[in-house]
Order: sequence, then C-alpha cells, then structure tokens
Amino acid sequence: MTAFVGRASGKVILFGEHAVVYGVPGVAAGIDRGALATATVTGGLGSVLTLGGQRFTAGGEEDLSRAFDALLAVEDPGLRLEVDARADIPPGGGLGCSAALGVAIARAVEAASGGHGDVIGRVAARATAWEGVFHGNPSGIDTAAAIAGSFLWFERGIGTSLIASPADVWIAIGYSGASASTKTMVEGIARIKEKNPPLFEKFLEGVRAISQNAKLAIDAGDALALGKLMDMNQMLLAGVMLSTEPIEAMIASARQGGALGAKLTGSGGGGSVIALGGMCARGEQGSAAEALAKRIADSWSAAGYPSFPTRICGSSSGKSDPRSGAPAEQKN
Ligand code: MEV
Repeated sequence: MTAFVGRASGKVILFGEHAVVYGVPGVAAGIDRGALATATVTGGLGSVLTLGGQRFTAGGEEDLSRAFDALLAVEDPGLRLEVDARADIPPGGGLGCSAALGVAIARAVEAASGGHGDVIGRVAARATAWEGVFHGNPSGIDTAAAIAGSFLWFERGIGTSLIASPADVWIAIGYSGASASTKTMVEGIARIKEKNPPLFEKFLEGVRAISQNAKLAIDAGDALALGKLMDMNQMLLAGVMLSTEPIEAMIASARQGGALGAKLTGSGGGGSVIALGGMCARGEQGSAAEALAKRIADSWSAAGYPSFPTRICGSSSGKSDPRSGAPAEQKN
C-alpha cells in the first residue's frame, strides 16, 4: 500500500506574538523540529486520523475530529484516508505544534489525492481550517511559518514574505512549563484591549516599531541590535501580563550566561522562551553563536527546563531555504 508523506516545521515567533492578531507585523521562523504525517487510501467508510495513539474519525465530536473534518472539507479529496500524524515539539509549548500538524496532514492529504492545481494554496487553506477549530481567531502566523522556512515577515490580511538574511542565527529554545491554550491567551489579551485601550494601543505601536527594526537588523546581520529588540519585545509582552516567574527566571539566567537577548515566544503565560546566541556565516559549523546557544540550552535543561539549540537558516535572496518546510513526498 502506498503511503504519502507530509512534513512541516515548528516555528518560533521572534517578534510580534499577539500583536499580529491585530494586524501589526511580526517576524517568525521555521525550526528544524516539527510534524510528520502519512496518508494511505483505504476502503473504509470514513477518513480517520491517528494521533498520540488515539483515533479520530472525521465528523466526530472531539476537537481533533472536527479539525480533521474541516481540513478535508476545504476540497473533498474524494478518497477515504487513514492518516497517521506525530509531532516532535511539545503541544502548548508555543512552537506551533498544532499548525505544524495541520500543515503536515494537509500535505499528506494533497499528495494522496494527486496534488493537482494550486497545491500550496490548498495546503494553506486546509491548515487554516484545522487551526480555526483550536484557536478561534488565529492570525495565521503559525501556519505561515510551518509552511515556510527561514525568516518570515508576516502581516495579517496583507501576506507574508521571506526576509533576506546574510547570516544564520543560533537561538536556544527552552520550555518554561504548561501554558493555557492559545485561544485562552488570545481571549485574555482581547479583554485587556477592551479594558484599557490606550495601554493596548501603546503595546501595538511598540511592537510595530520593534518588528520593523528587527527586519532591518536581520537584513543587516546585526546580532546585537536583534538581541536588544528581543529584550524590548519581552518588556512589552510582560506589560500585558504574558510573562510568568519561570519565564523571567529563564530570561535572567540566559542574559547572565551571555545571551544577546531573550523573550517568551508564542502565546505566553508559560510555553517556550528563546535566547539569542548570535549570528554566524551561513552554514558555518562550530561558531561562537552556536556554542553560546548550546551553553544556554544546557544550563536551562540543568535547571529543569527542557531545552535545545537551533539554527535559523538565512537566505541571501529572501527565498525559502529548501531544507525547511519540506513538501509532501511519496513512499512505496
Ligand atoms: C501563537 O503562536 C501566536 C499568537 O500571536 C496567536 C496568533 O497569532 O494566532 C499568540
């Protein structure tokens, strides 16, 4: 039986989480961990998704059944599919686990159904429908980053483009602990917007300026500026109650350990923290930036926060790095 495979990257939001929901630009990047899905055509009555050892029938009542149904309904593949999916990033960790799963499943479904016409458009539409079930009002940044690699400029309702970068960036990613769902965190921010519109406007304007400067810093290969901008974004995120004690403890220890900047990433209230080790020439092995990112990740892990270092690959042309966001493939 032929198995059709789809993969997708997890993501880090470098700048602009929550503000992107309100149309402020953000900067994200795909990472080398993510999700994998395989689809096989069956003669069964309904399509079934297996995830975490549990089976979800499209059209069932659980969130995952509804999300799978919404993904398939974007354009009926006309086939009954058995889809097996898994992710190697923690759910609720702020690393875009559900978007990576949605994109990987969408790619596997597209491959199984022949992949004709606007496959990329349909993968995005399927993954967006999947995300909508979990997140209510997703900006789409997680899905866009799961599809693309490298540095991504994102503006809700306007679009995405890759940011040219002459350098690779090394960061440490560490898990501070469980967070509420993205949906709950986004709703909490909406309440702050309602209660204190002037504070919220300042938050949005601050993030807008930071994202714009971050784009310039990435383009110029300016690691020091990038780190400072991460610190500034963290201050604004803490100002709208998204930081926690463990997040602050991780940030303080990363800065003491030499990080150029550090912030929470994703929906906050827990989840993941990123710290900047620095930049190096594209593809360079054994750089000081890599060593620092590894040291920070090791010290976070030793303190009980599971962590790993990762490279974000630059791209001089602003085109996607072929190593990231691998498209669907076929396995016999
Ligand atoms: C979640 O990874 C990012 C948020 O900005 C929500 C969204 O953009 O949909 C918090």
